[in-house]
Amino acid sequence: MKCLVLYYSRTGHARHLANDLGESLGADVEEIRCDRYHARFVGAFRALHDAVRGRSPAIAPLRRNPADYDILIVAGPVWASRPAAPVRAALEACVSNARRIAFALTLIGSGGETAVRRMARIARMHPVAALIVTQAELASGRHRRTLSTFCTTLQKTVS
Ligand SMILES: Cc1cc2nc3c(=O)[nH]c(=O)nc-3n(C[C@H](O)[C@H](O)[C@H](O)COP(=O)(O)O)c2cc1C
Repeated sequence: MKCLVLYYSRTGHARHLANDLGESLGADVEEIRCDRYHARFVGAFRALHDAVRGRSPAIAPLRRNPADYDILIVAGPVWASRPAAPVRAALEACVSNARRIAFALTLIGSGGETAVRRMARIARMHPVAALIVTQAELASGRHRRTLSTFCTTLQKTVS
């Protein structure tokens, strides 16, 4: 299975998850680059504002084409029960080239399912699977079990 993980991460948690997925699936991993939210306090405020408004910020051009892969996994943090704004931008930019999609989200506690529904609406495509992981699960390694189930679902879907 040829798999591309596209991820955005502001503070490192979604990067951790994306890299774990890359390792488990032997996937290519590419970051969605956007510097609009880097600043510590202003960045968080902008993030909230843009997520709630449904704003798509400028992102750097993607290097890889999802059309070259069996499946595209779009990963990132949950912002106000929504996908992070750069994730929204990436979905709008490239998902129409994808054969299949799946989502992987990190969050503190709640809003993951709502964010998945919103991502499916933005993508106009149903994900074959969605993985929602809390920061506490990531920190303790407890996410490995759900990650493994998620990867098995993807493999079955493609084979
Ligand atoms: C603007 C903003 C809104 C957030 N909204 C939520 C939320 O609705 N639910 C939640 O559980 N966590 C929320 N979080 C926490 C992030 O989803 C969580 O810290 C995530 O793991 C960060 O990923 P990252 O380190 O890859 O940026 C929010 C964080 C920010 C900055």
